[in-house]
Formats: sequence, C-alpha cells, structure tokens
Amino acid sequence: MAFRITKAVIPAAGLGTRFLPATKAMPKEMLPVVDKPAIQYVVEEAVAAGLTDVLMITGRNKNALENHFDRVTELEATLEEKGDVDRLAKVEYSNDLADMHYVRQGDPRGLGHAVMRARMHVGREPFAVLLGDDLIDERDVLLSRMIEEQNNRNATIIALMEVDPSMTHMYGIATVEMTGTPDVVKVTGLVEKPSAGTSPSNYAIIGRYVLQPDVFDVLEHTEPGKGGEIQLTDALQSMAANNIAGGVYGVVFRGRRYDTGDRLDYIKAIVQLAVERPDLGPDLKPWLKQFSADLD
Ligand code: G1P
Repeated sequence: MAFRITKAVIPAAGLGTRFLPATKAMPKEMLPVVDKPAIQYVVEEAVAAGLTDVLMITGRNKNALENHFDRVTELEATLEEKGDVDRLAKVEYSNDLADMHYVRQGDPRGLGHAVMRARMHVGREPFAVLLGDDLIDERDVLLSRMIEEQNNRNATIIALMEVDPSMTHMYGIATVEMTGTPDVVKVTGLVEKPSAGTSPSNYAIIGRYVLQPDVFDVLEHTEPGKGGEIQLTDALQSMAANNIAGGVYGVVFRGRRYDTGDRLDYIKAIVQLAVERPDLGPDLKPWLKQFSADLD
C-alpha cells in the first residue's frame, strides 16, 4: 500500500568553510539569497510538495536555524505597533511553515551519516531528503513529481540532471537505462564524485531524494567511502545493484536549479533570482546591462 509521504529531512550540519569568515558564527544555511535565507527556500519547496513535517539535521553553531522558524515576539510586536503589515507578514511567514524538528549530527561523518540520524524520527515510512546547497526554482516541478513516482513504483527516487562532462567529479553520478515514462530512468549504478575521465555518464544527482526506509539498514552497513565519509550515494548504489526495496529510479530534471554551495555560484544565484523578482528586477536589469557593458 502506498504511503502518503509527509516527512522531509534536511541535512544542515555542514561547517560552511567555503564561506568563511561569513560562516564563523552563523550557519551557511542562513546566508541570504536576495532577502530570504537559503534554508527557507528549501523548506518552502518541501511544503509546496505537500510535506508537512521537517526534520533538520544540525550541529554546533546552528541555533539561528531554529530561531528562524520560530516566533520572534518583540520584533513582531514592534512591527505591529508601527502598522508595518508587509514586513510583519514576512516575519511571521516562516513561523508556521511546517512542523519543525531538529536533531544534531554529532560527529560530521558524511551525508549518509547525517541521514541515519533521521531514523528514529522517520520510522518505517518513505521520506524526502533535500540538500540546502541546491535550490530548485519554485516555478519548475521536481519534488512532487518524485513523490508521485515513489508512489507508483514503491522504489527509491533520486533527482538527476545532465551536467557538462567537466563537472561530473563534483557529483554523485548515475548509470541509467530508459523506462517507458518520459524523464524517468532506471538507475543501475551510482558512483560518488568519480575522478576526471572515469565518469560512467553525465547524469548527476542533484540534492533531492525520496527514500525508502530500508535505506537506514543499508546505511548501517555502508563503509566510509569518498573522503573517508559515509556516503548516501554508496548506500543507494547498493540498493540499485541489489534491487533492494524496489531498486532506484531517477527523475531527470530539466528546469532551473541554482547552486549556492560555493561563492561564485552563490553570487550567480542571487543575481538570477533578483533579476526575475518584480520588486527588484525592473531596476536591477538596466543597471546590470550597463554594468556589464562598462566591463567591456
Ligand atoms: C552531495 C552528494 C552528491 C550530490 C551532491 C548534489 O555532495 O554527496 O552525490 O551529487 O550533494 O549537490 P556535496 O555537494 O554535498 O559534496
């Protein structure tokens, strides 16, 4: 029987070293993308796909995340007194987005290890995992499509995107076979961050997964892999190769994805999103054109 998936797990225990010193005292997930912290986009995406329960895997230095999804009574009272309805709505919006839960990862031993920390909370239901470095444009459908496939196939579903062959060393890479369904592939093998020239394909895992609860048993027996870390990709490779809990399928995403994981991509993401915003785009666009003309 198909479960209605309600739980999202968001690993957010990374140290954010690529953004130091900004992330010295603040979690990288709180870095603003235009005027919203990156993590809020991810929670909003989960909620838009019908997930109502969010578990964040956090670590030291991550209190700001819990505060962001909670009330901030003094600020709300001040805005209310001033009658600043717009800003009050923005502040209050993130308070009640979802039923938020937090668990700490302890030792940061990799993405697979972070996901394992969700075991008690998730129980025996399929669940979604969303990685905060990847933002998916809210106008493009991905997660709800993956949940639908999970329901149809009772299998593990991962999000794949075709990337330039020069980029494959930065991702988990899938070997795939076509299915009868457009944009759905059967995953026959997975490898985490293959070194240059050894990639089996250019189908990269982007950070969205709908997992069968059986992944916890597999992760428990997954040895440290790339970088000495317990890799989710390695556990999924085992599930694909041995057809565990229905095997693994990929939904191929062709929409807009923004990477906020490193500084250059983060800057690009902000510009791309700001240009399209009705409140900022009309002023930003002409300025940007002039600015880039002046660069030449
Ligand atoms: C993680 C996964 C990798 C995946 C990537 C997507 O890597 O391990 O398989 O392709 O996310 O963003 P990370 O970028 O966290 O090193």
